[in-house]
Amino acid sequence: MKISENVLQLLNEQIAIEANASSYYLSVASWCKVNGYDGAACFFRAHSAEERDHMLKIIQYLNELRIHATIPQIEQPPQEMESLEQAFKTALQNEQNVTKSIDKIINAAQEENDHRTDTFLEWFVNEQIEEEDLFETVLQKFDVIGRDKLALHEIDKILDKLKTTT
Ligand SMILES: [Fe+2]
Ligand SMILES: [Fe+2]
Repeated sequence: MKISENVLQLLNEQIAIEANASSYYLSVASWCKVNGYDGAACFFRAHSAEERDHMLKIIQYLNELRIHATIPQIEQPPQEMESLEQAFKTALQNEQNVTKSIDKIINAAQEENDHRTDTFLEWFVNEQIEEEDLFETVLQKFDVIGRDKLALHEIDKILDKLKTTT
């Protein structure tokens, strides 16, 4: 096999992490839509698709090495959100955990002189910088604009515009 069992296991785990992230964002989108946050719903739907793309990237990488990727079982995400802000707080935490898990795979790849995987994951390192910044930027809006109904409506409009730039 072209990569070690250890790195393969970590990459398979990462496939599951991306799949679960995609599922979580879809659940948030669904909650946003029924609670009147149409902009946020579009934002999270688009973000769910991005996470699926991340999953597909890793599957494709393994397949190109002639390795069968493990297609994961998806966990049931929470169906109810405490608030729009809380959904973003959880999202940021998830993204920070993803950054750590990417780092962990890179460390393992480097220890094993696996330059292929190391280089492949460079894209994810940069992507995580963008994603953490994105969610931090949105969370800041609650402090800057506010949390009353009018402020949330304003944030929802901002999210509708942000979806196209993510
Ligand atoms: Fe991702
Ligand atoms: Fe992400």
